[in-house]
Amino acid sequence: MAKQQHPWWKESVVYQIYPRSFQDSNGDGIGDLEGIRSRLDYLVRLGVNVIWLSPVYRSPNDDNGYDISDYRAIMDEFGTMADFDALLRDAHAKGLRIVMDLVVNHTSDEHPWFVESRSSRDNDKRDFYIWREGKNGGPPTNWGSCFSGSAWEWDPKTEMYYLHFFSKKQPDLNWENPRVREEVYDLMTWWCEKGIDGFRMDVISMISKPDRYEDAPVYGGLYGSSSVTCNGPRVHTYLREMNQRVLSKYDIMTVGETAGVTLDEAKKYAAADGSELNMVFQFEHVDLDFGPGGKWYRDPMSLPALKANLSKWQNGLDGVAWNSLFFCNHDQPRIVSRLGDNSPASAKCIATMLHFMQGTPYVYQGEELGMTNCPFGPIENYRDIESLNAYRELTESGLRQPEELLSCIACKSRDNARTPMQWDASPNAGFTSGTPWIMVNPNYKTLNAAAQVEDPDSVFSYYRTLIALRRSSPWSRLIVYGHYALLAPEDPEIFAYTRELDGERLLVVCNLSPKARCFDLPEALSWKESEVVLSNQEPPALGRTLDLPPWQAAVWAIH
Ligand code: GLC
Ligand code: CA
Repeated sequence: MAKQQHPWWKESVVYQIYPRSFQDSNGDGIGDLEGIRSRLDYLVRLGVNVIWLSPVYRSPNDDNGYDISDYRAIMDEFGTMADFDALLRDAHAKGLRIVMDLVVNHTSDEHPWFVESRSSRDNDKRDFYIWREGKNGGPPTNWGSCFSGSAWEWDPKTEMYYLHFFSKKQPDLNWENPRVREEVYDLMTWWCEKGIDGFRMDVISMISKPDRYEDAPVYGGLYGSSSVTCNGPRVHTYLREMNQRVLSKYDIMTVGETAGVTLDEAKKYAAADGSELNMVFQFEHVDLDFGPGGKWYRDPMSLPALKANLSKWQNGLDGVAWNSLFFCNHDQPRIVSRLGDNSPASAKCIATMLHFMQGTPYVYQGEELGMTNCPFGPIENYRDIESLNAYRELTESGLRQPEELLSCIACKSRDNARTPMQWDASPNAGFTSGTPWIMVNPNYKTLNAAAQVEDPDSVFSYYRTLIALRRSSPWSRLIVYGHYALLAPEDPEIFAYTRELDGERLLVVCNLSPKARCFDLPEALSWKESEVVLSNQEPPALGRTLDLPPWQAAVWAIH
């Protein structure tokens, strides 16, 4: 594909579906492909044009599909390949593209490659994975898995360790092996030939392992940091090869999930010359409330730090790469509970702040309704392997007190994003007629799609407007491509910025706090005329000083 200046993926809004929790069609309590197909009109109504599907491939579900045992088959619980084909066909007919989750840093341990690989030291597929001898009677290094415990698992059959940066049922593939890369390019081509519209690449920054296997620094836990494997020495070589072999042949979009990515690395991953991927997910902004010991320690998220971070990415990639804009996904607690106060006004305010930036926005299922974190209560109500393993390891080792840790897990657990989609006020929120695989957030009786879709003041309608402004309005080009400039960097409550393109300007002002605020616009900002583009409450009069009620967001075009 020749490189385009204004490719469709820059002008798109993506909606992420976590299939397990979106819509169940057969009463087994698990969302499925037929369920998704029955809800496509809802997405059309919202106005998004791309769906990213979290993994739907065959999987034993140790990590809800991020452990794949067959890349060319559909998970039994989600349906059949015929269901997938029907979903793709209907989505395309409605103007929706489908982006697949590509999980190729690791496979399931039940994938036939691994079954063979572990069968003997001289098996033909041995080198598809990373096997090492132990050291001093223990694992080869101190590396920890992202899901607790060592990243090395002892395999008694062949008496060696294999590497798994996630669960022990997710062995890491050995990308040094050209045969592994060929297999990956083959399966990608297979899906592209089917007509899918792109890939979201799971932890793609981790595929190239360090040259030397040495102990890593320990921060707050029992093991060495797994970040040793981010942005490894050959990651860009592999992605350029993948691009030449597969991506460049199709008009598809690609987004890399790049844990540990820096601005300089992102300029390579998402380079404007199209040599690797279209864009990356960086995580600095959503990790700002990590404590010094990582995710399971809480620090408040300071607004000046958030502004500085997002502004760094806005300005740093302008013209040289491309941002993805997100706060929510299946690994993140709900932003309205994190940065907001669970109110619809705060949901709209946060959305305004994000959706007027440069980049491609991602909406995660339920975010468009203002879905909140879930009061799970005891640890037994959680399902996520990451939360469950952390709880066990940190309490059993005595490093943390159960109650205190549980309160942290309540704020941070990935399960907050994974409760069933709240469709209506009927039992189980209209998600299933059976028993849902994970609890439904009890607030579904009032917080649901049915109550919002027709209500012009709802969070849903507000997202619909945000998306329409970006996709088809007089300001579309400015919203998608305009240059960004932050105002009042030190203000602890107001997030304000301008966007500018060819002499046109937008002014975005968000009071990200539950208090009323007065805000003085900087002296240097001047305009003769203004027009309100959007506001989540009665818009304040635009003068040098703005009176902003709690959670006010307002956008003006200024000339
Ligand atoms: C990514 C996914 C996450 C998964 C992990 C291992 O971070 O988003 O859900 O657990 O990779 O595949
Ligand atoms: Ca089902």
